[in-house]
Amino acid sequence: MEQLRVAVVGAGYWGPNLVRNFRASPDWDLVAVCDLDETRAQKVIGPRSTVDVETSLPRLLRRDDVDAVAIATPARTHASIALAAFEAGKHVVVEKPLADGPESAASMISAASDAGRVLMIDHTYCYTPAVQYIRRAIADGVLGDVLYVDSVRINLGLVQPDVDVFWDLAPHDLSILDFILPGGLHPASISATGSDPLNAGRACVGYLSMPLTSGGIAHVNVNWLSPTKIRQMVVGGSRRTLLWDDLNPQQRIGVFDRGVDLSTQARDAAQRERASVSYRLGDITVPALPEREALSSMVAEFAGAIREGRQPLTDGAAGLRVLSVLQAASTSLMMDGTPVRPEPLLGAAELSESVLSR
Ligand SMILES: NC(=O)c1ccc[n+]([C@@H]2O[C@H](COP(=O)([O-])OP(=O)(O)OC[C@H]3O[C@@H](n4cnc5c(N)ncnc54)[C@H](O)[C@@H]3O)[C@@H](O)[C@H]2O)c1
Repeated sequence: MEQLRVAVVGAGYWGPNLVRNFRASPDWDLVAVCDLDETRAQKVIGPRSTVDVETSLPRLLRRDDVDAVAIATPARTHASIALAAFEAGKHVVVEKPLADGPESAASMISAASDAGRVLMIDHTYCYTPAVQYIRRAIADGVLGDVLYVDSVRINLGLVQPDVDVFWDLAPHDLSILDFILPGGLHPASISATGSDPLNAGRACVGYLSMPLTSGGIAHVNVNWLSPTKIRQMVVGGSRRTLLWDDLNPQQRIGVFDRGVDLSTQARDAAQRERASVSYRLGDITVPALPEREALSSMVAEFAGAIREGRQPLTDGAAGLRVLSVLQAASTSLMMDGTPVRPEPLLGAAELSESVLSR
């Protein structure tokens, strides 16, 4: 099959990972790397390369040997670069977060739909074998109904100059929730509390809780100040419970056939008091997961969506849902944890259904 031609925009910290994966992919021909800083772009492609260096975005977008661009520049620049790319008829994959706020994200979704081009968000974790396993386990009913999700992402982190710990770390947890929950993340409300014990001027420790439309509840704990690094998610289901420990390569995922059963279906209060609780102590299953770099699956999915004229697994609407939850969390944080309903998604769901053309 003919290769698609891609240019990576942004050759800072993350861009080189995209460059490496597009180069290694049979689906893609990397034709150019564009950065305002020529030396950075040159360094990423290395000596004696056939890949071009571009320092002007308009010149890059005028090239007719570029089908798609991958944007790895700071979040505040994503919308303007993506809009220019759609105007020039290119397909676009954008690094997370989709934009610096829901309004810019919605404008990107509209522009992609108007241009009939693919807009994909690189929610990288969604392309890890572990998260793909969790999504399948929920969809196939292995866990039963999702009763609760508890996600912990804590370590000694850099206190960021421009964003708090929610905007720095929680996009990962929220994008994973959006990916694994059937129908995506649509919480009725978000409650956020945080603290700034160092007087850094922004929350360094944060807790998010949100009731899920399925009836369950999700909780996310993010923290820049923890001396130990923990990356764990528990998905408690009515049939089984899954524990994902991303820092344990021997047993990244365990599926526990264990739980609590109420022995009687008590209807009134008096009956409920008499209801006895029993514990189910069944097997723990540890699935064998393939060792595969998430970004290699991500670039393959981008190519598949373009070739098949379909929405990618992580589309613009997924990026917008995550941003809407983050924005509601910021409002709740200012109101000491008062639950806040995320803004409606500006018709993005309908837009994401629109048919794409090549
Ligand atoms: N998926 C992940 O897990 C992951 C991890 C880290 C960063 N990121 C995301 O990647 C993006 C980039 O982050 P980073 O840490 O690499 O930033 P960075 O500041 O290290 O690099 C950004 C690069 O973009 C260039 N640039 C800025 N504006 C440009 C423009 N208009 N045209 C061309 N080049 C331009 C800069 O010169 C710089 O080299 C962010 O959205 C970030 O959130 C994603």
